[in-house]
Amino acid sequence: MSLIFLLLISAAATISSVTATDHIVGANRGWNPGMNYTLWANNHTFYVNDLISFRYQKNQYNVFEVNQTGYDNCTTDSATGNWSSGKDFILLDKAKRYYFICGNGGCFNGMKVSVLVHPLPTPPSASTAAAEISKPNSAAARPPRSGSMAFVGLVLWIGWIWLGSGWI
Ligand SMILES: *[C@@H]1O[C@H](CO)[C@@H](O)[C@H](O)[C@H]1NC(C)=O
Ligand SMILES: *[C@@H]1O[C@H](CO)[C@@H](O)[C@H](O)[C@H]1NC(C)=O
Ligand SMILES: *[C@@H]1O[C@H](CO)[C@@H](O)[C@H](O)[C@H]1NC(C)=O
Ligand SMILES: *[C@@H]1O[C@H](CO)[C@@H](O)[C@H](O)[C@H]1NC(C)=O
Ligand SMILES: *[C@@H]1O[C@H](CO)[C@@H](O)[C@H](O)[C@H]1NC(C)=O
Repeated sequence: MSLIFLLLISAAATISSVTATDHIVGANRGWNPGMNYTLWANNHTFYVNDLISFRYQKNQYNVFEVNQTGYDNCTTDSATGNWSSGKDFILLDKAKRYYFICGNGGCFNGMKVSVLVHPLPTPPSASTAAAEISKPNSAAARPPRSGSMAFVGLVLWIGWIWLGSGWI
């Protein structure tokens, strides 16, 4: 029984580490002037293969991926990509710092955001999973994403029921 619990824990950890998150810039306020997107970015943790998405009035604003100079100076000379659909999803497929700005003036009004993308952690080993059982309330090495939190919670809960009923 404890082996099954162990396998479930590993499965939960694996699922949580492959679930990509879509980070909506500015949340429900979107990509607009007068915001401080540094505050928004500081509130998010980005991992390789997450998406960042920009929502704005099409034809009014746009999105350019630039380098640090472009970000600091609001210039698009260094652009490696540009988007203008009004609902742009951009895959963050490298562990590096990304810089995005609005390319038609909005950058000077705060429409710039820089995000640091972290590498995916290596999947936890069985011994890590075992440590999780003895300390079920401790946070995992990396906290599971919100989408998989419920599943992880369910697994932990089932484990506790088993523990409580003395099966293991
Ligand atoms: C945005 O917030 C950050 C963090 O508090 C701060 O360092 C920065 O100066 C602010 N930027 C603007 C343009 O207000
Ligand atoms: C940070 O995230 C929390 C929880 O999602 C949210 O309530 C808060 O408004 C966010 N703060 C900023 C500056 O985005
Ligand atoms: C861009 O900004 C940097 C500071 O971040 C400054 O040192 C540099 O001279 C600027 N470059 C141009 C071309 O304006
Ligand atoms: C950004 O790109 C511009 C134009 O290609 C280049 O002149 C500048 O040195 C680059 N800045 C950085 C920090 O790589
Ligand atoms: C935007 O990207 C396209 C390629 O996707 C490119 O042809 C175009 O020159 C870019 N526009 C600017 C202003 O850099």
